[in-house]
Amino acid sequence: METVKLGDREFIPFICEDEIKKAIKKIACDISRQYKNSNPLFICVLKGAVFFAVDLLRLLDFSADMTFIRVASYCDLTSTGEVKMLQPLIEPVKNRQVIIVDDVMDSGCTYRALKRLLLSQGAESVSLAVLLYKPDASKCGGISPDFYGFKIGNEFVVGYGLDYNDMGRSLKDIFVIKD
Ligand code: IMP
Ligand code: MG
Repeated sequence: METVKLGDREFIPFICEDEIKKAIKKIACDISRQYKNSNPLFICVLKGAVFFAVDLLRLLDFSADMTFIRVASYCDLTSTGEVKMLQPLIEPVKNRQVIIVDDVMDSGCTYRALKRLLLSQGAESVSLAVLLYKPDASKCGGISPDFYGFKIGNEFVVGYGLDYNDMGRSLKDIFVIKD
C-alpha cells in the first residue's frame, strides 16, 4: 500500500483490505447469532457506511432488510457536533428491531440523534454496528457501539467509504492522515 494524496492532505496506509474483510466477517457472525430470528431492519447511514453495509449484509446467515438515511456532521477534518438530516427515513420502524450501520463512531452525536429519533418513532430497540470506533472521541457519555471492527485513536481516516471532503471513499484500504 502506498501513501495517497487527497486535495491538500497526505494519507498513509493504516488498515488493509484483508483485515477489513476479517473484521466484517466477525461482526456478521455476532449479528447473525443475536438477530437470526428477529427480522431486524438495517439502516445504512449514507454516504460513508454504504461499502461496509453491503459487505456486512452479504455475510449474514439470514436475509436482511436494509434502508438508508443521510446525515452530515463533518466539515473538513472536524465534527461540527450538529447532526443535519439530509435524507429522512421513509420506512416505518414501529415495533422493529433496528440496527444502524455506520462507518465510524467518533463523537457519538450521530448515533445519539438517530437513536432518539428511531425510538420516538416506535422502534422496539436500536443498536449500532460500526467498522471503526474512536472511544476517546466520545462527546456523548455512556454511548458505545454494540458491534465494531476496530478501536482506533482520534486520528482522521479515509477509505472504504470514509471521505475527506468527498475524496477517498472508494479506496479499498483505510488510510490515516499524515500530520
Ligand atoms: P459522530 O457523529 O461524531 O460519531 O461522527 C460520525 C460521522 O462523522 C461518521 O459517520 C463519518 O461520516 C464522520 N467521521 C468521523 N470520523 C471520521 C474520519 O476519521 N474520517 C472520515 N469521516 C469521519
Ligand atoms: Mg457518516
